[in-house]
Amino acid sequence: MTAQPQRPAFGTVLAPQMAVASYQGGAWGDYEIKPVGPIELSPAAHVLHYASTCFEGFKAFRWKDGSVHVFRMDMHIKRMRQSARQLVLPEPDAEQLAAMVRAVVDRCREAVPEAPGALYLRPILFGTTANIGAAASPTKEASLLVLASPVWDYFAGGMKPLRILVDDENTRSAAHLGMVKTGGNYAAAMGPTLAARAKYNVDQVLFCPRGEVQETGAANFLLIRDGALLTRGLDSTFLHGVTRDSLLTLARDSGFTVAEEVFDVRRLLDWVRTGEAALSGTAAVLAGVGSLIYRGEEFKVGDGTVGPVTQALRAKLVAVQTGESPYRHGWLQAV
Ligand SMILES: Cc1ncc(COP(=O)(O)O)c(C=O)c1O
Repeated sequence: MTAQPQRPAFGTVLAPQMAVASYQGGAWGDYEIKPVGPIELSPAAHVLHYASTCFEGFKAFRWKDGSVHVFRMDMHIKRMRQSARQLVLPEPDAEQLAAMVRAVVDRCREAVPEAPGALYLRPILFGTTANIGAAASPTKEASLLVLASPVWDYFAGGMKPLRILVDDENTRSAAHLGMVKTGGNYAAAMGPTLAARAKYNVDQVLFCPRGEVQETGAANFLLIRDGALLTRGLDSTFLHGVTRDSLLTLARDSGFTVAEEVFDVRRLLDWVRTGEAALSGTAAVLAGVGSLIYRGEEFKVGDGTVGPVTQALRAKLVAVQTGESPYRHGWLQAV
């Protein structure tokens, strides 16, 4: 085996240029491309006090011929607009945000790594109105930025089977905000996740409030067994992952039966006796789960390794993203 070069940890390096637009007087202004650097913000900015912010995360891939393609940008922009609406933030204009993303990718073209790396794109929207008495009133001004970061593996160790705590005590978000990609949800998951790491040496926590399986702190959760997939059906309690949607589409196209419904921890533990479990997300792609810890007891998922269907589905998705497969080309937009 050849030695892997040392890669920076996911998200720690930014590409050199960013796009910036401001919302003022009820309208979005033109965007600018600028070198990445500090931004000016009033200490009374709405976001700093009342967490009026949401973001997105998706990837651009460099194909073997050198061309660069963004994966399912339309879905991510739609989700960003939905997050903004839920948080009573000014909605980004879809066309303008797409243009900002394309401009950043274009200006940072040199920074797009070859597969299995990618350029991770991070639009962020936040309320800038200076008013520390606005707990119950929305921001009137906002900023929209698009950052980019060359990335490799999210989970250090790549395809190592993950160890997950099944947590039926904590919640990662308010029930109506789970589908919103907002910083507060990640803040809410942080404490339980760090505590679980310290106590059980797990990689992630699978949140199962009231015993219903939802998702982990930064990825959706899928079960696989005998040609069937099981995952929670779309509702407001968890993030509607674009990777989840892509994998379910590929699985259906390959003849899998897909059930999208609420299921509980008892059913989860039954599935994993002979099945596979995996986390899906832009960063995680599809990461296999090797063991679950529930109420202090350890349950092996299948034989404890990353399952063959997980590996095959992951490879199928990566092949589409990197242009190796001629399939579902509508999901990619060349820049
Ligand atoms: C909480 C949460 N769930 C699920 C996902 C997966 O979403 P997507 O597949 O759109 O990246 C993410 C982001 O990656 C996330 O932060």
